[in-house]
Amino acid sequence: MYLNEEEKKMLNGEMGEPLRFAMELLTTLGEVNGAEIMIPIKHAHIAGLSFKTHGVAGCEWAERMADLGATVRVPTTFNVSGWDPTRDLGYPKKWTEYSKRITSAYMRMGIHGISSCVPYFVGYVPRLGESVAWAESSAVVYCNSILGARDNREGGPSALAAALTGRTPEYGMHLTENRRGDVLFKVTTPLKNITDYGALGHFIGKQINTKIAVIDGLSDINSRNDELLSMGACMAVLGAPTMFHVVGVTPEAPTLEAAFGGKTKYEVIEFGKKELEDSYHALTNAKNRYVDYVSIGCPHANLDQIKEVADLLDGKKVKDGVMFLVHTNMGIKEIARQLGYLETIEKAGAIVTQGFCSPLGDPEDFGLKVMATNSAKTAFYGPHGNRMDTWFGSIDKCVEAAVTGYWSY
Ligand code: F3S
Repeated sequence: MYLNEEEKKMLNGEMGEPLRFAMELLTTLGEVNGAEIMIPIKHAHIAGLSFKTHGVAGCEWAERMADLGATVRVPTTFNVSGWDPTRDLGYPKKWTEYSKRITSAYMRMGIHGISSCVPYFVGYVPRLGESVAWAESSAVVYCNSILGARDNREGGPSALAAALTGRTPEYGMHLTENRRGDVLFKVTTPLKNITDYGALGHFIGKQINTKIAVIDGLSDINSRNDELLSMGACMAVLGAPTMFHVVGVTPEAPTLEAAFGGKTKYEVIEFGKKELEDSYHALTNAKNRYVDYVSIGCPHANLDQIKEVADLLDGKKVKDGVMFLVHTNMGIKEIARQLGYLETIEKAGAIVTQGFCSPLGDPEDFGLKVMATNSAKTAFYGPHGNRMDTWFGSIDKCVEAAVTGYWSY
């Protein structure tokens, strides 16, 4: 793999241990994937920063890197850290202490501690065609598909290495020829909210693996893109795609022909009413209708979702024994506070968290057993990662479950 003089110095350790480590990791990745050169990146987003994923060893490694002077070269943000610095949710002391240390170590490297999986909601919006190094599968899919920026599905270490060097090996999604569609999904039933879009993401994710889905038949998508975000987030946990195209909507798919890059033979799969219902069933594994946990905001909720929760909760009370969390980041939470949504939600007994989410926060450790959620990604993790029985449905059904303590069909 060709390296320029500065990249060679990084690799030889002439520019310090953090850059040596970073360049070694990137060149190894590049060689394995057939890259010929390094390319500059404009932004990085680091994931895997919760205590759940980092553990003690990961925390100590990050502190050592910060002590050695590791400093990012491009604007860099970090993902959900799995703890809320503004309140005590009842986690063991060790969890909170290590979470603080992990956050502090990465911030010492110059990384913005936004603790959110939606960096594009707080101002980091790469341009069409720009290369970045983002980890967090939902953000990767959003970046490639909706923004048209270029990103491989980075892991936490490779995103950090790219942030420290300002470079990434040129392979995969950075190359135009790898961004063409593989399979056509024809949507023949109307989708009415982000929950329906999440169910579509589940259907596609089960079948797509690393291929690129081209979706036709979605015409009435809202301009905040949270429907496509929800769809991509669920797709990315069931399969390992980095991108989808929506014909006539996403920037690299103005037409069906453009989405497939001229390819004329491809598999066609229909998503109709039956498939939508089947996806809802697949995302619900609970039998017990008594709910003790309600989770909204995966990926992190935008202002519309928070307002919807506030409107639905206005004048009501969350049932005793039910924990109701709405997850977002500090920026959106602060706007929600100033607009009065937060007050309404908290008056009802629900909590808006920041820097936190259910899949990374292990709510089952509080003894909670049955969850209701509007997020297809959280619903997938419910029985798989969080050992919780899960009901999957719209925000209004989730709010109703929080107030009554009961999931209604
Ligand atoms: Fe974001 Fe946590 Fe969901 S990182 S996508 S809210 S699992």
